[in-house]
This record gives sequence, structure tokens and C-alpha cells, in this order.
Amino acid sequence: MKALYFDYAATTPVDPRVAEAMAACLTMDGNFGNPASRSHRYGWQAEQAVESARRQLADLLNADPREIVWTSGATESNNLALKGVVEHLRDAEQVQGPLHIITSAIEHKAVLDPCKWLEKHQNVEVTLLTPDADGLIDPQQVKDALRDNTCLVSLMAVNNELGTITDIAAVSALLNDHPALLHVDAAQAVGKIPVDVKAWDVDLMSVSAHKFYGPKGIGALFVRREPQVKLAAQIHGGGHERGMRSGTLATHQLVGLGEAARIVAEEQATDEARIRALRNKLWQGLEAIGDVYLNGHAVHGSANHLNVSFAGVDGEILLASLAKVAVSSGSACNSATVAPSYVLKAIGRSDDLAHAGLRFSLGRFTSEDDIDAAIAEVSRVVTALRG
Ligand SMILES: Cc1ncc(COP(=O)(O)O)c(C=O)c1O
Repeated sequence: MKALYFDYAATTPVDPRVAEAMAACLTMDGNFGNPASRSHRYGWQAEQAVESARRQLADLLNADPREIVWTSGATESNNLALKGVVEHLRDAEQVQGPLHIITSAIEHKAVLDPCKWLEKHQNVEVTLLTPDADGLIDPQQVKDALRDNTCLVSLMAVNNELGTITDIAAVSALLNDHPALLHVDAAQAVGKIPVDVKAWDVDLMSVSAHKFYGPKGIGALFVRREPQVKLAAQIHGGGHERGMRSGTLATHQLVGLGEAARIVAEEQATDEARIRALRNKLWQGLEAIGDVYLNGHAVHGSANHLNVSFAGVDGEILLASLAKVAVSSGSACNSATVAPSYVLKAIGRSDDLAHAGLRFSLGRFTSEDDIDAAIAEVSRVVTALRG
């Protein structure tokens, strides 16, 4: 029997419409050319396809297509944003002395690790803001942490473990009279909540296709044009992507990302309403088991995430017993380690409750039957383990 899939925050299946568009860009009779080949039709057609994908993503984000830099995913986009800003200041602008970055303790490792690297190699001081018990960062915390040498604020729009939503527009409003740039990791936001770079007034934003029914291994960094954000490239080669990211563009991946973005633009609002109703039903069913704690904010959260802790059960045994329900304990990307989730610890959960935390994440293909089956199975397992 196939397990019920409740791990859409780790990755989503490719939408069949996306798979079809991608398949048309692989073989001899398809659009397989190198988009950088300028001397023949194969190249021109491939270039047209990647530029059309660029427009589809830009439209979804309310950006200019020239503000989209293709990358391999949100990890690379975050690295390019964080290291790119600092290295540009050091190399091109000759800024010396310590620089300062503000981020939060509940960011993904793809932000925290580049920050650590910058502390070690680029004389950067990093302030980690602590969320409240519901996982929210108050924009005022950012304002209070600003220093004269703060060059960057990096905050996620939607937290990958909790689903909590950061008020990005409020953060950027507080940065109006400060030169610090604002980078947003929107890997968990695109496809789940409306994302608008102009309304949010951000300088840099990371996205990843496999979180919104596109393929893995492809993503983008939004880089604002006016005023222009300058970055030092992290991958050097043929000067693709206006020198910001070299490497032959993967036509099929980009066409898939573009189609995925087009579908989100059309269907996100209806998807969200349907998924929120399913999530609420799941929460009611799980809450009825008793001694269950919601991790995250009851209102300021994405429709797709539901993170809960079951008191009185061992987290690892719980996960192992739930073979019929594919969920995640903490963030899937960190599941190689068995330490309690640092995100759940940061919102003040005890080691036991953090260990007993399960992240259910729902998506486009979750059905009402899946919810009923998951509630029945989790109730059975938790009751048995407690008994
Ligand atoms: C918030 C967040 N940022 C970054 C990433 C990494 O994205 P990618 O898999 O595209 O490198 C993830 C993936 O889990 C994520 O949830």
C-alpha cells in the first residue's frame, strides 16, 4: 500500500501539465537546444522557451523578467544573495571593517549556514532574532537590531516547519530610511500565499520550483533593478544570466518551472481555500486525540502546514509507527540529524515535545479521504503508544 503523502513542504510531485511541458524539451523532435546557441534555430527556440518561462515567473511575482536570475534552487539563491551582497561590498565597493546581517533563529539552514560562512570568512557579525512562542518575528525586532553597518536583513516569508508567515511588507517599511537590503527566502511561500515583490518592497528573493509542483534542481533569485542591487557572482563561467550565474540553462527544467508558475498564478487562490479547509479538518481530528499542541500561529500561518506535538509519546517511535502516513519530523532537509528541531526549540518547546513534533504538509493533490485516513491512523498509533 502506498503511504498517504503529507510532506508537500519537503517537495511536491510535478503537476502532470508541467511534466508534459518538460517532456517536450528533451528529445530530438523536441525543443532540446542550448539557449545560448546563437547561430541556429535550435538555440533560438530554446532561448524563446526559457525567456517565456522567465516572463511566467516574473508575472507570478509581479517582477520584471530582467529581475529573474535562474539558479539550481533556493539553496543556491540564498547563497548568491547573502554571499553576493557581502562580496560585492568587499570587492567592488572596498568596504572594510565588520559588516552586519540580521536574520532569525528559525531560518532554513540554507540561510543560516551561509551566514556562518560569512562570519568566518568575511568579518560579518550576524544577529539571530528569536521568534515568539507562536513562531512570529515582530518587524520591530528588526528595527531594534539595525546598526550603522547592517548591510542585509534576511527573513523567510513562510517558515518551512511551522508555516508561520512573516509580515515582510512591515519589515521593509521599517528599512526605508536605512541602506540595508532586504532578502526574502520565499521557498515555502510561492504557491501557498500571494507573493508580490513590489507590494513587499524586497531587494532579493529566493524561490524553488520543486515546492510548487515544478521539478527539483531549478529555482531563481529575484534581483531588484531599481534601485539596482549589485551582487558578486558565485559561479563563474560563460557569463550567463548577465554575469550573475554562469552555466548552460536547463531548458526542460525552466519550461517546467514556468508552467508551474503559470498554474500557480491561475489556481493558487482556489487551491489555498480548499487546502485550508482540509488542514482545519485535520487539526480538529488530531486535536480530538487529546494532549496535542499546535506549533506555530493559529491565524498567521500557511494553509498547507500543520505542525503538532503529541505529549507522552517518543517522537522517533511515533514516526516509525506511522509508516502509512508520510510526514516529517522537523524539516526534511535536516532529517539526517536526530537532535530536536532547532525551530521547535526556538519557540520554546521542551526537548520531549520538540522530539514528538510532526509536520503534516498538504497540497494540490490532498483529498478529503486522505485527511480522514490520516486522522484515523494517527489516532490509532498515538493511542496505542500512550496505552
Ligand atoms: C525555506 C526553505 N529555504 C530553502 C530551501 C532549500 O531549497 P532547495 O531545495 O530548492 O535548495 C528549502 C527546502 O526545504 C526551504 O524550505
